[in-house]
Amino acid sequence: MKKITLLQLRNKLVLIIFFLFAITNVMAQEKISLDEDWKFHFGHAANVEKDFDYSKTALLHKSNVFATTIVHPKFIDSTWQKINVPHDWLVELPFVKSEQVEMDSHGYKPVGGAYPETSIGWYRKHFSVDKSKSNKRFEMQFDGIYRNAEIWLNGFYVGTNFSGYVGNSYDVTDYINFEGDNVLVIRVDATQYEGWFYEGAGIYRHVWLHITDKIFIPEDGVFVYADVKDKKATVTVETMVQNNLLNQANATVYCYVTDRKGTVLAKTAIQKIKLDSRKGQTIKHQVAIKNPELWSLENPYLYRVVSVLQSENQIVHQNKTRFGIKTVKFDAKEGFFLNGKPLKIQGTNNHQDHAGIGSALPDYMQYYRIKLLKEMGCNAYRASHNAPTPELLEACDSLGMLVLDEQRLLNSSPEYIDQFTRILKRDRNHPSVFLWSIGNEEQNIQGNEYGKKIAQTLLAIQKDIDPTRTSTYAADMGNDFKGVNEVIPIRGFNYREYAVADYHKDHPNQPLLGTEMGSTVTTRGIYEKDETRAYVPDQDITHPWWASKAETWWKLAAENNYWLGGFIWTGFDYRGEPTPYKWPNINSHFGIMDVCGFPKNIYYYYKSWWTNEDVLHLSPHWNWPDKVGKPIDVWVNSNADEVELFLNEKSLGKKTMERNSHLQWNVLYEPGTLEAIAYKKGKKITAKIETTGQATNVVLTPDKTILMADGKDANVVNISITDEKGREVPTANNPIAFTISENAKIIGVGNGDPSSHEADTYKEGNWQRSAFNGKCQVIIQAGKNVGDVKLEAKSNGLKSGAVVLKLKK
Ligand code: GAL
Repeated sequence: MKKITLLQLRNKLVLIIFFLFAITNVMAQEKISLDEDWKFHFGHAANVEKDFDYSKTALLHKSNVFATTIVHPKFIDSTWQKINVPHDWLVELPFVKSEQVEMDSHGYKPVGGAYPETSIGWYRKHFSVDKSKSNKRFEMQFDGIYRNAEIWLNGFYVGTNFSGYVGNSYDVTDYINFEGDNVLVIRVDATQYEGWFYEGAGIYRHVWLHITDKIFIPEDGVFVYADVKDKKATVTVETMVQNNLLNQANATVYCYVTDRKGTVLAKTAIQKIKLDSRKGQTIKHQVAIKNPELWSLENPYLYRVVSVLQSENQIVHQNKTRFGIKTVKFDAKEGFFLNGKPLKIQGTNNHQDHAGIGSALPDYMQYYRIKLLKEMGCNAYRASHNAPTPELLEACDSLGMLVLDEQRLLNSSPEYIDQFTRILKRDRNHPSVFLWSIGNEEQNIQGNEYGKKIAQTLLAIQKDIDPTRTSTYAADMGNDFKGVNEVIPIRGFNYREYAVADYHKDHPNQPLLGTEMGSTVTTRGIYEKDETRAYVPDQDITHPWWASKAETWWKLAAENNYWLGGFIWTGFDYRGEPTPYKWPNINSHFGIMDVCGFPKNIYYYYKSWWTNEDVLHLSPHWNWPDKVGKPIDVWVNSNADEVELFLNEKSLGKKTMERNSHLQWNVLYEPGTLEAIAYKKGKKITAKIETTGQATNVVLTPDKTILMADGKDANVVNISITDEKGREVPTANNPIAFTISENAKIIGVGNGDPSSHEADTYKEGNWQRSAFNGKCQVIIQAGKNVGDVKLEAKSNGLKSGAVVLKLKK
């Protein structure tokens, strides 16, 4: 047995006693989800009566306004629709063909000033609070409401959050009713747009109620960062403490750091403080961690720091923050370094919506989408163009994905400074966040003095709130050193990859990042341009005038160290911005994956050069009955050294794979098997595609088979149409009907077809969706009872498919 010294034994005991003390003290604070049991009703942007007399009655001229108004607790909402949040009312509405400006960019769902009847949403939520909590402090946190949310509690006006993306919190202590019903009322006004893409509408992120003592650590009141030198991390924890009592109070604060299993690694000294009434104070502690596990993409190790606030010998608040220890360096000549190792940024831009569910994503979907991006070799996510959902950052922290966190509008007015400040404070503890973006493509100001001055103001705020990081700005400018570019620490290029080399020559000390790159437009499984159905070929061929093919930008980024790397526009297709077509297209074609997350062929180009996995992928498919004897361009995406192609066992020649490129053969089509045999450092790799038989089966593949029976967990079930031999039929577009047993529900369906106008949701049941080129997708949400859930998929003339999932506590 290993001998330990008395001193070591004493230290261990101290830690154990301290840890027991920490866990046996009941947490004085609560964070309660208010996601369930809301009531919803449309208001009206142009008809006062249909808007519950919103602008006819005085809702602001007295506190706790009259019993007849919609914001009063007594107002009767029993006939309103029952919903849970996250909720996106827009995704549930049908697509509307319209020439209205902005309708195409917002995905042809009826929202905005031209659709007053579907652009205002009223939400009401009833809850009760036990009398025993009457000496507590109450704060409501809204993570994201699209948009312009006016909030009342028990008839008291609480606040307005103008932003559709940056959440906000409100102290509501004085309005809580301990004797009966509390009613939260929110009017959401989505008549105005913030972006030029689908933005959803409604309370599409979580709502929380925080209950604390009146001496407390505010949400986002802890800032933790680490400095690493010689295998030692000095962790600084800044804990803000607030006293909302009407008298002065004494308190103590200390912190301890645990590893991810909860073992206490270090503890700070206890700091005594005197807090004036209604004042806050920030206490700075430092602890050292020897040989820290660094947060990396492969091992996203998360420590926890717990700030403990005590008053009158009681623990009144414990704030637990997950954090990571890492080093980053942006070098203008040598590129980006994570933990001292060079790392090319292999990023994707993404909006926040997903097939079937719009912008109201269950938390599980954040993990699902980040997992898909990671599998492709993507190592960085640009939250274009808005503050991401907190759970997206948690997914990136846990799975190992860097984040470029963005405040889009380059504006230094008090409103936008406030929004930027909220993002910085909310997100600065996330190890995944490696860089801030202060804006995107402000063509009117980015190259002039306005842009420069605004950027300087925002950069100063960023340095003040988060001195540990730096910022970029996504400029659609070439070799221009004016305006924002003169002052931005990291020059961002949206497209214009051809200008990067010259810019670097002229400004060799400014690191360069492709903030939006590539932008090949493709439709999954389509191989000919089709102007009627508005499809573009699924190869790295077509791009808008301002953009480039994948191979053009990636070769430059990969082969020049002075490129930090870049972010593709985009990882996933998204609703809105149909390009190059408009209606019938309702979503973009920019994605490396479609709106469901099904890979397009270009995915394999990136995967070839973004991962060390063996990639050998052939396209198109091999079902071309009308093309017998005619030439077909076969593309091979691979990271092998050489590839030989065979059609029905006849060699069509061997080719050497150029790095960061692809191979092509022109093949006279005959049905059968097209096979590739490749060699990578002497290792043989094979892949084939075959002409399939008729569609015969519907096959369901769930992402996971066990769900939490918590009413919140979700799952993606992908559907394939296959032939008798189980091969997916790449041209199958069969309509499919879905049923699900009790105790779970379907919340959305999609197929990745950018011209499909089929419904996303079927609130009355009768869920259905056609396959698009062999596939479609169902998203389900768990109920609260333990047991089995069966999802069945039926299509006329095909053998039905089913999957059974387990719900566990
Ligand atoms: C950029 C813009 C993106 C998107 C993209 C389409 O100019 O920043 O939001 O519109 O073009 O290519």
